[in-house]
Amino acid sequence: MLAKKRTAIAIPSSEITPKHLYLSRRQFIKGATGGAAFLAASALLGSCRPAEPGTEAEPEGGQASATVDELGDPLTPYRNVISYNNYYEFTTDKESVAARAANFSTSPWQVEVGGLVNNPRVYDIDDLRRFDQEERIYRMRCVEGWSMVIPWIGFPLSRLLAEVQPDSRARYVRFETLHDPDQMPGQMSRGYPWPYVEGLRLGEAMHDLTILATGLYGDNLPPQNGAPVRLVVPWKYGFKNIKSIVRIDLVEEMPISLWMAVNPREYGFYANVNPEVRHPRWSQSTERRIGEVQRRATLMFNGYAEQVAGLYEGMDLRLNF
Ligand code: MTE
Repeated sequence: MLAKKRTAIAIPSSEITPKHLYLSRRQFIKGATGGAAFLAASALLGSCRPAEPGTEAEPEGGQASATVDELGDPLTPYRNVISYNNYYEFTTDKESVAARAANFSTSPWQVEVGGLVNNPRVYDIDDLRRFDQEERIYRMRCVEGWSMVIPWIGFPLSRLLAEVQPDSRARYVRFETLHDPDQMPGQMSRGYPWPYVEGLRLGEAMHDLTILATGLYGDNLPPQNGAPVRLVVPWKYGFKNIKSIVRIDLVEEMPISLWMAVNPREYGFYANVNPEVRHPRWSQSTERRIGEVQRRATLMFNGYAEQVAGLYEGMDLRLNF
């Protein structure tokens, strides 16, 4: 557990909160969560420089089990997590995402899980919240060179995959975001092959660190952070963490993600955090933790090498960017 072992990541919510609070939080998490003009999105990912997040209003935050992650890095304040976002379906301006996504309707919400599985299923968001929810405090490193430490609420994707039972042909998992230009004005932009798509190798998807997140800081996900359900894969660049998922398919061929389709020279399938592999336009050796002034060294696999390096044995990590 977190306090005992510095490499441990998962803490069941039941162990971090008094039981009555934990149960009422569960109830709350089970409850439902709740576009304007889109800035012309000619920019590609990475062209926005990290700016100092707004500090005017101090939004309420839920709770977290700890103030630091397993490396001793402080959690990013709630107000920063919810006010500095990448969500191109709403806007490319990080500090306007929250306002533009405020009325995004996430109820009712269904996630269809199919493809090469023996037991295809459609999950209502409440079905997903019925999986045992855990807190996972993870670092998130954006390919643009900034990072945060976020206490997610969610559950391992492997549990959902065990229910649908991938068949022997399945080698990859493909994820898709909602396509609804009426609600997501960014999807009117022709520069991108909407909807947002991401993918994982099956072994990566089955890894215990890989979660479907339904909340953060003890509350449901806010729209700007990918409500009502998103992927979190902490050893990969943030763009792999696809938001507002409506489809998950088990497939045979490597899925082409939105960013691979837009700019294959700059964005690859694996996107493992690697300080030694430059983005064609900038170094990845350091990062700016949101809320801090000094840049800090970027860690191999974002600090999760001990847990995940084995997934890539024999691969040339310089080629698999
Ligand atoms: N998912 C969708 N559907 N659309 C996006 O624009 N942006 C990605 C990822 N998931 C994105 C997305 C990028 S680039 C990052 S860094 C993270 O979400 C940001 O997550 P956050 O806003 O919760 O910090």
